[in-house]
Amino acid sequence: MENTPLLDICNLSIGLRGDGVGYDIVRDVSISLHPNETLAVVGESGCGKSLTALSILSLIASPPLFITGGSIMFGGRDLTQISASEMRAIRGAEIAMVFQDPMSALDPMFTVGTLLTSAVKAHHKVKSAVAKKLALDALADAGIEDPKRRFDEYPFQLSGGISQRVMIALALVNNPKILIADEPTTALDVTVQAQILERLKELKNERGMALMLITHNLGVVASVADRMVVMYTGEVVESGTVAEVLASPHHPYTNGLLGAVPRLNSGITELTSIPGRVPQPYELPVGCTFADRCDRNIDICGVEHPVLELRARTEVRCHNPVD
Ligand SMILES: Nc1ncnc2c1ncn2[C@@H]1O[C@H](COP(=O)(O)OP(=O)(O)O)[C@@H](O)[C@H]1O
Ligand code: SF4
Ligand SMILES: [Mg+2]
Repeated sequence: MENTPLLDICNLSIGLRGDGVGYDIVRDVSISLHPNETLAVVGESGCGKSLTALSILSLIASPPLFITGGSIMFGGRDLTQISASEMRAIRGAEIAMVFQDPMSALDPMFTVGTLLTSAVKAHHKVKSAVAKKLALDALADAGIEDPKRRFDEYPFQLSGGISQRVMIALALVNNPKILIADEPTTALDVTVQAQILERLKELKNERGMALMLITHNLGVVASVADRMVVMYTGEVVESGTVAEVLASPHHPYTNGLLGAVPRLNSGITELTSIPGRVPQPYELPVGCTFADRCDRNIDICGVEHPVLELRARTEVRCHNPVD
């Protein structure tokens, strides 16, 4: 990429440390995010996608989890080193996040309007009328048809789809430079998923935001994202442009995930399931962590951990990549 990244995660490791236990869950992850791009992060459950995203905003459960290496550069500062108050100024204002389960993320004690205006006031000294205007605008931007009515409702009065739009409004209300969306539509039905993703894509373009989208859905990756990163057992195993990776995956894991995908642009397409299971972070083998599920496994795979290497224009971590 020619332009400077907005967010640059370099060699990030996240580990669990406690009474006599210590192992890394996320290992040596480097991911950059550029202005006005959508980056998809994909991989099976338990591969460290959420921890990576949460660490950007210092939201990992610490203890027992800690950042054990690397840096997260944003605006000339390393987000792993800044104070809690500096992070509060960034979180929800410059970098915002939308989670998978909106129902549990919205505080049931407050109306939608209070949640939104409080989010504005946490970052800007504005009069209540201005905060209200910004809140109503954010609801409309998130694709909510009747913002005035929703403003006075409580979270329990909202459907799943509307709740997720309220979460998006909360994330947008301070006009962030980066929106991180962690499986934002997984809990919703297919039609609502498609509408919300379409809206996210439009918003990214209208606002020139960068979007980091964690998803299980390859249809979404194909239709929304510019670049993609594939994670397995806490590591990046392949990364490149969506066009190149989907057309010609080099890592056997990516290839397996794409396996049975017939038409990438026809609706919602989940990752294919690969036989076997993802090893837990405390039981990783010495060589390639995908070895026991891989049909391209050769001798070296069991003894030497592969490094991430540039192959054509994608990066691949594999001793015997697919051509
Ligand atoms: N608070 C925690 N304490 C211990 N292990 C955790 C914690 N949070 C996540 N993990 C472990 O870290 C790994 C990666 O989790 P996560 O980032 O949520 O994966 P993903 O989002 O890719 O499904 C999993 O093995 C999970 O069990
Ligand atoms: S390094 Fe070997 S075992 Fe691992 S994915 Fe590549 S071919 Fe398969
Ligand atoms: Mg997750």
